[in-house]
This record gives sequence, structure tokens and C-alpha cells, in this order.
Amino acid sequence: AASIHDAFVAAGKEFFGVATDQGLLERGSNAAIIEANFGQVTGENSMKWGSLEATRGSYNWGPADFLAEWATSNGKLIRGHTLIWHSQLPTWVEGITDPAELTEVIQTHVATVMGRYAGQVAHWDVLNEILAEDGTLRDSVFSRVLGEEFVAIAFNAAREADPNAKLYINDYNLDRAGYAKVNGMVELVTKWKNAGVPIDGIGTQTHISGGMGAGVQAALEQLASAPVDEIAITELDIAQAPSADYTAVVEGCLSVAKCVAITVWGVSDADSWRQGENPLLFDGSFQPKQAYSDIVGTL
Ligand code: G3I
Repeated sequence: AASIHDAFVAAGKEFFGVATDQGLLERGSNAAIIEANFGQVTGENSMKWGSLEATRGSYNWGPADFLAEWATSNGKLIRGHTLIWHSQLPTWVEGITDPAELTEVIQTHVATVMGRYAGQVAHWDVLNEILAEDGTLRDSVFSRVLGEEFVAIAFNAAREADPNAKLYINDYNLDRAGYAKVNGMVELVTKWKNAGVPIDGIGTQTHISGGMGAGVQAALEQLASAPVDEIAITELDIAQAPSADYTAVVEGCLSVAKCVAITVWGVSDADSWRQGENPLLFDGSFQPKQAYSDIVGTL
């Protein structure tokens, strides 16, 4: 297959990437497919807090370093995923009740992880999934102990740790214009940006079902109405991978100037977190699907 990344860049965008990690890169056709077809990698799990520091002060850098080194030696961009998330969070962080301690722990985590990969990671998901479906802040140790102050704490620490990285707030179910969570994201990001919080972009994960692709462009336009520099589709997968939905999502990004990139959430259906839904661009035997060639055709 022709490189989907090269075609997307030729159409004026920054990258078309994919989620992966060491275990995947070391088996199947993952590495060869990514080398030939994609321009960026996101660690599916390796850069999450729970993977890096399950025990306080004791870091497991192996899988994250592997990903960063693989990307660098193969000329792929890296999206860092993710610094602050209520899930895959070490239990020692969940147990913190003192605001000053949690502030310091967030600042140290962001400085340590972003500092290690400074200059290597172009985009960081600083915050992941902090909104509830009604568009307000989700309940988590961060919101319970610090209120919404944790947002500024995290983004300020991130800007300091790597001034050249694009700093994102990332979430799911942002796929339909006018949905409460989309409205809430735009309102809150606008408020935080106006208060000086250094947010560069909004990431929309885009884990969707067939039939939803056509609505994505309007959702991207609404997200792009927030005062951020850019937006990105960060974890795309579509149940049963209908060509019409995949091409609609790609065309939606092409049509929205602020939409700079697309990342799909894995190479092969064999390894997808949505087992049984066959949502990716390569089937269980690592063969490209119709949706893949149709996207390249669209581009
Ligand atoms: O590494 C352990 C292994 O040692 C253990 O034997 C095994 C037994 O369960 O678990 C392994 O960890 C699993 C990990 O993936 C690595 O394979 C976890 O159980 C499993 O929960 C974890 O799932 C990941 C999930 O995030 C966790 O919430 C998925 O791979 C990953 O695709 C998914 O990605 C998320 C994004 O980060 C955020 N947006 C939604 C997206 C899909 O859920």
C-alpha cells in the first residue's frame, strides 16, 4: 500500500500516525507496516503514569524508552500519551488527599517524564479524559483534591518542561457537534485559555461506530472554534471499519484548517482494544483493508 502518512502530508497536514508499543513492534508485521505507512507513533500504554511509576519514585522507563528510540531511529514523530489521567493511575497517587502534596506530585511527574523526552515528543496529551459526559469536570483525585486548579498546574508544568512541545487536552465522545461534552470542552478551554493556561490543542480520540463518520467534520469545526492553535484526531478507530466513515473522518480533518493530524489506535484488528469489532485499517492478518486504500485514494 502507498504511505497514508506521505499522502496526508502532501495534502497539507502534519502526520498520519498509529498507536503501538514495544511488544507489538517486536512481533507480527507491526514494525514493517509502521515503517512503510505511518509517520508518527503514540505509546498505547508505555507512557502512562501507571506504566512508568507504579511504585512512588521507582521508574520503569524500558518500554517508553524503547518506543522513543524506535521512533527516533525510524524517523517517526512521537505523540506523548498521557501525563494526567484518572485511569491507569498508580494507587499511591489516587490516595493523596493534601492539595500541596498533589500539586508537587503533578509538577514532579510532568517535569520528569516530559524532561526525559524533551525535544523528542512533538505533541503531549497533558490531560486525558478530564470531562464527564455532561461537559463538567469528571470526578477524580485531581478534581476532588485541587478543583479545576489542577488544569493550570499541569499545563504550566508542561510548558516549563518542554517549551517546544504542543500541549493538548484530549478526550473521547467529542464526535458530534452540539453534544454536551463538546460544548463543555469548548467553554472550559476558552475560559482556561483566557486565564492564561498554556493549552495549544484539543485532541479528540474518535472511537466511533459506523454511521458516525459523517458528523465528525462539524464536531471538529466546533472544537476549532475554541481559541487553540490546533486540534487533532488522536485515537481513531471505527467499528467494522466502514470505508465511508473512515474517508469522511479524513475529509473532515482536511476541511478544517486547525486539524493538523490523525492517529489511529493500532495497526491490526488482532491487537485492537475493541476485540471483535475489527475497527482498524489492517485486518487480523496485517492486510490493508478497503478503507485504507480508499483513504489514500481520497488524499
Ligand atoms: O501489561 C499487563 C500485563 O502484564 C498483564 O498480564 C495483563 C493482564 O490483564 O495486563 C496488561 O496490561 C494491560 C494493558 O492494556 C497492556 O496490554 C491492561 O490490563 C489493559 O487494561 C490495558 O488496556 C489499555 C487501556 O487503554 C487501559 O485503559 C489498552 O491497551 C489501550 O488501548 C487503552 O487505550 C485507551 C487510551 O489510553 C485512552 N483512550 C481510550 C483508549 C481505549 O480504551
